[in-house]
Amino acid sequence: MIDKLNMKAQFFDIYNLFPTQPFKFSYSIEDTSLLTLSEVVKAAAELPRHLVEYSTLPFQVKELSYPDIVGLLSSTKSWIILRHLEHIPRYKSLMNQLLNKLMGSNIQLSNQYFNPASFIFVSSPNFVTPFHIDPEHNFLFQIIGEKQVLVNDASIDPIISSSEIEDYYADECGYSLDFRSDYLSRLIPMTLRSNEGVYIPFTFPHMVFNGNDISISYSLTFRTKMSEHHRKVHLVNRALRLLGFRPRKYEVSGISDSLKYQLFPLLNLINR
Ligand SMILES: [Fe+2]
Repeated sequence: MIDKLNMKAQFFDIYNLFPTQPFKFSYSIEDTSLLTLSEVVKAAAELPRHLVEYSTLPFQVKELSYPDIVGLLSSTKSWIILRHLEHIPRYKSLMNQLLNKLMGSNIQLSNQYFNPASFIFVSSPNFVTPFHIDPEHNFLFQIIGEKQVLVNDASIDPIISSSEIEDYYADECGYSLDFRSDYLSRLIPMTLRSNEGVYIPFTFPHMVFNGNDISISYSLTFRTKMSEHHRKVHLVNRALRLLGFRPRKYEVSGISDSLKYQLFPLLNLINR
């Protein structure tokens, strides 16, 4: 089944924005059978419980009939998230194939990534994913339905402050950011349909509005030396701030960032 998968690397010609700016791309996967709702429900039953999250839907979603699940998703504001699908071998194979395609594509993803992970998001018509940031490079593939992703290009016009990013890194479980209506004009809207996706760099704020149908999206994330450098320097800055210092913001001084990066293991030692 997986052998049939064929992701064409038809990225938009703005692919050279990777990894520092968001962009929309198109793709094709010949066989999306692992990404249908019925397969998602099957996978939910195979994953460890802590990797499956539901909202509104009953916990026993795997015991519901397929029409019941569709009915609930259609009539209530619900979502299902499957985390770390790569625990299931057939999804690990899918993830690796997509990573290979990305490496062979024009975006020039190198093999220097680590902690690759894959997720599926199923959500109700008109569902809104709140304004938030994520710590990893994120390729979001729209599989079924339509959604509008609004992303802040933080490389040009950052909405959130360094200290907010520091706080986020200190507790990556924190999900939503405060949203103000004046942010809207500083977000890039990208409408995604089947066979389209968006790349979102780590810690770039974004929110998502579903269209009028049930949406299924697949997300492929990974970390790199660059994202880890960003995370570690911010965490050292946070520690320095808590100690009463006023550290330079990230990227103001390469030397200072490099020193902080070297200091990071010390921080880990103190936190033990
Ligand atoms: Fe996200």
